[in-house]
Amino acid sequence: MTHLDRAHELVAQLTTDQKISLLSGADFWTTVAIPEHGVPSASLSDGPHGLRHQSADADHVGIGSSDPSTCFPTASALGATWDPDLVAEVGAALGREARGLGVDVVLGPGLNIKRHPAGGRSFEYLSEDPLVSGRMAAALVNGIQSEGVGACLKHFAANSQERDRMRADSVIDERTLREIYLTGFEIAVKESSPRTVMCSYNKVNGTHASQHRRLLTDVLRDEWGFDGLVMSDWFAVADRAAGVHAGLDLEMPGSKGAWDGQVRKALASGSLAMDDVDVAAARVAALALEAEDEREAHRDGAPVDLDAHHALARRAAAAGSVLLSNDGILPLATDRSIALIGAFATAPRYQGAGSSQVNPTRIDTAYSALHDRLGDGFAYAPGYDPRTGETDDAMIAEARHAASSADTVVLMLGLPGSYEAEGYDREHLRLPDGHTRLLEEVLDANPSTVVVLATGAPVELPWAARARAVLLSYLGGQASGSALVDVLLGEVEPGGRLAESFPVLGVDLPSHGTFANHPTQAIYRENLYVGYRFHDTWGVPARFAFGHGLGYTTFEVGNAKTTGRGAKRTVTVDVTNTGDRRGSTVVQAYVHDVAASVHRPEQELGAWAKVTLEPGETASVALSLDERAFAFYDVASSSWTVEAGEFELRVGLSSVDIRATATVRVSAGDEVSAVPAPAGPVASDAELSALLGHPVPAAAPTLPFSRETTVRELKASGLGRVLRGLVRKVSEKEMGAATADDPVAESFYESTPMRVLAMGSDGRVSLATIDRILDALNVTTAKARRSRRGQRP
Ligand code: BGC
Repeated sequence: MTHLDRAHELVAQLTTDQKISLLSGADFWTTVAIPEHGVPSASLSDGPHGLRHQSADADHVGIGSSDPSTCFPTASALGATWDPDLVAEVGAALGREARGLGVDVVLGPGLNIKRHPAGGRSFEYLSEDPLVSGRMAAALVNGIQSEGVGACLKHFAANSQERDRMRADSVIDERTLREIYLTGFEIAVKESSPRTVMCSYNKVNGTHASQHRRLLTDVLRDEWGFDGLVMSDWFAVADRAAGVHAGLDLEMPGSKGAWDGQVRKALASGSLAMDDVDVAAARVAALALEAEDEREAHRDGAPVDLDAHHALARRAAAAGSVLLSNDGILPLATDRSIALIGAFATAPRYQGAGSSQVNPTRIDTAYSALHDRLGDGFAYAPGYDPRTGETDDAMIAEARHAASSADTVVLMLGLPGSYEAEGYDREHLRLPDGHTRLLEEVLDANPSTVVVLATGAPVELPWAARARAVLLSYLGGQASGSALVDVLLGEVEPGGRLAESFPVLGVDLPSHGTFANHPTQAIYRENLYVGYRFHDTWGVPARFAFGHGLGYTTFEVGNAKTTGRGAKRTVTVDVTNTGDRRGSTVVQAYVHDVAASVHRPEQELGAWAKVTLEPGETASVALSLDERAFAFYDVASSSWTVEAGEFELRVGLSSVDIRATATVRVSAGDEVSAVPAPAGPVASDAELSALLGHPVPAAAPTLPFSRETTVRELKASGLGRVLRGLVRKVSEKEMGAATADDPVAESFYESTPMRVLAMGSDGRVSLATIDRILDALNVTTAKARRSRRGQRP
């Protein structure tokens, strides 16, 4: 009997109130248990690159303490490995640590598409490409679940910015939604059967994801066959009864009954069916029953080997490091003197802030790792303040001195922690001015400079060609320092290739004009043109292209041959290691539709393979392309469609470094309906309306005050300002004293919608009270407005 069957039997014994109680968590991290009926509880914890397991009295926004656990490289580095086997190993380690901490479900991986690199959580996501996102997420899930712990795909769906993340409406045409934003989830669901999925905060085309029946039920379950549990992102519920009807099984965290009355009323009025409640309650119970069985099965498991996990984190960090350029200076010659410059060498950036923030078991710094190899035989200068990125004349003078006295400089730059966090987006893609000034001074003092970048997402690199090498170490986790030295000294190769484009300028991107620029709406005017799909289609080269990355050897790719029929093809190429050391590369196959009747990106990734070869060795590498690699989403027929005609299969080492091509013909294609094509990468109102099938919706107003009003917006009313002060006091007490000077806590609190005040009040403030307060705010504001205009009430 499956866990779900057992759960249904248990739920059949429960009262309606007991069933409703199961639909919301018991507290911040656990589900409700009903022991007298045999329903146990399951425990959940963040997060994607390490466990953030908090004890009961900790705060819950990532600023307080959590139990130590291995901090692996964040998702952008894991994505850059293009190595599902390695990522599955990381997943399994996460699973073991979760088990050790008594966690039943790990709240990750996150696989939102990086619509714009300035997204605050870019470091938490895998790629700009749905195939890479989906496959790598599936690998993580399979790894985590191989240890008997559940995983959670998040955040479903179209959650691309942090600004006003709890209510902003992602306006997206159906084809773009399918091809860009849903495909990764679809792949991960089909290739890994995650136990849970987390819905996102935002709205999708006018409806909160937490109550989006088409997404949560029609697409996720009915089309893709997902059979696990859907939980809300933390406080994402906007209307619980609508959520239950839509297929949202579990509200997290528990809201202490805030919505129970509403659910009861909906049942009484018939707007919600008892069946919907039964099904959701059974899924919650099934998750907990499965967790209980797994705990029992692993009771006598071996203790977690944190040394082995640290070693794995080190391997993964090197495998996700991307060598962007190198004139041959790397690997470093150790008989030459080295100056290590940059405070990140002693105060490393190795993860981002927010709910994914892990308390690491240890930290290897680049300074100590280099010291382990070279003793005191290198110079060091901090060059900037690692917290702010600012520099001053004294630090510059010290750095210049160190640089000019050494043969080679390793200059560590990047983004200070406050630049990359959940809760807010970056305002630009530049490095801090202090880093840029230091770079100029160091290059001037010694042009023999290798720049190492610690950042979770693309930055603008106008100076890149002037450095002798640029090595992107991403946010490489707790072992990033030792991994960096492994790579610099050539003991390990930099194994990463970009799973996201590095644009020349952020403003070049077609999403730029509508990214995080409005309090209630994000219009995806760029439609399909995200990342390389934009650069390659519209002839705007990236500074470093998708798929790009160098190793310490070189490869030739050629002799493309195809086998297969129709839209099921395998393209085989010969790959030769033409250098003098063993090394790996990522061979990528892109599909170009030669004459499409609908607008399509110039090419799209269809398959890849990571190969490791000895010097001089040649391997035949087969890349299998399934129908989806040739298809586009046809909105009229709601189906993936392959059009008859020629397709060019392009095989290379990045989206712009194509080394071999082969052309195939699909003779029996599907019927294709005409689709209006935007004339450029940014759709006008008329073009977007045609794609949407209706006029571009007007943005929701921020007044009158409503449950969606954020704490920040209370400033619009005198009474609101008083209330805001009160809320702030309470939340500072809840979150600890750190709120005032912690930008993450600050943004969490400021962008909280009014409804969340009730949901997070531990039952002390009801939604009805919030509604009454909102009414009062609206009345007093209207009165104030009238009196300003000199009108009588
Ligand atoms: C984040 C999720 C996270 C949850 C629990 C939310 O704010 O968006 O990714 O899993 O908090 O910490």
